[in-house]
Amino acid sequence: EKAGFDHFMLKEIYEQPKAYRNTMMGRITDDGKSVVLKEIGMTAEQIRGIRKVHIVACGTAFHAGLVGKSVIENLARIPVETDVASEYRYRSPIITPDTLVIVVSQSGETADTLAALREAKRCGARVLAITNVVGSSVAREADDVMITQAGPEIAVASTKAYTSQLIAFYLLGLFLADTIGTRDAAYVSEVVAAMGELPEQVERILEHAEVLKQVAESLSKHNNLFFIGRGVDFAVAQEGSLKLKEISYIHSEAYAAGELKHGTLALIEEGIPVISVITQEDLYEKTLSNIKEVKARGAHVLALVNEGQEEEVGKSVDELFAIPKTLPLLAPALSVVPLQLIAYFASLARGNDVDKPRNLAKSVTVE
Ligand code: M6R
Repeated sequence: EKAGFDHFMLKEIYEQPKAYRNTMMGRITDDGKSVVLKEIGMTAEQIRGIRKVHIVACGTAFHAGLVGKSVIENLARIPVETDVASEYRYRSPIITPDTLVIVVSQSGETADTLAALREAKRCGARVLAITNVVGSSVAREADDVMITQAGPEIAVASTKAYTSQLIAFYLLGLFLADTIGTRDAAYVSEVVAAMGELPEQVERILEHAEVLKQVAESLSKHNNLFFIGRGVDFAVAQEGSLKLKEISYIHSEAYAAGELKHGTLALIEEGIPVISVITQEDLYEKTLSNIKEVKARGAHVLALVNEGQEEEVGKSVDELFAIPKTLPLLAPALSVVPLQLIAYFASLARGNDVDKPRNLAKSVTVE
């Protein structure tokens, strides 16, 4: 059932192009220009009445929510807050009937996420669930449900579910923007067209898995490392860091690149690996200067850059991995893939049980 792959995680990483296609299928109009979400029962008037969005989830699903925040704020111009579900209820969040609460859960059974959903409903908010499991508790209790079509995810470390959640957020962001009128049809069709290219672009990344295996093997000899990025690159850095910790047991931290000098830089010493995600054109110069800060203190820097920027970034880093070019907002759907592979190969190099990391369960049904 692993279809020739050594582990479910690797199989699921390779299933991502299909998961992207399936999650988009039926949600893009035949002319390929706009988004239809028949599963959203809200009227256009109700959508225009949304004053704020809360995105609530755990772990990897929360990291998808961090990207979701950027997507919804950028496209639909609605203010978004993100919370980990285990914190949400206890901070007495301001949930009003004009709040849309989006819960994200692969399994649809995570106890904290379910409790957050119930709290949101109790306060009169509309709840939209993004989940991978039809008929799950979260799917049954939410008002609207977007099913990510990733197919069953067996490995404890979430990969294709995360990227399918990103696709769901892109679709949702475009749908909201179109309904509210914050983006015109030409812009929406440009994003939809770029989304159509993502599956093939992921395939191109997967062709270079061998390079990432080598990177991971040398990383696996370290006990500490950092991930840095700005904007959505920071969100991806957080997911890359979680993935690595979860299955390789190597300690890592993800930092907003500009925040390093407020303390963390003290931890940078000769030879420490720093993985830098640098795909956002408008933040490019700034992140590059943060890379120089760690390089000057002896860090060994691997940069994930857009194709075409290899030469310029290459001067300031030790290793490079190029990602096919897409729209800045869509970059997470590509840049996370090399980080998933690095985590996988580092876990393998350390002889760990990749699919069943110690102390963890696939579905966390206790609070
Ligand atoms: O099923 P869920 O998406 O609600 O699960 C949430 C987290 O427990 C999950 O994403 C966890 O962080 C993963 N094991 C990370 O790979």
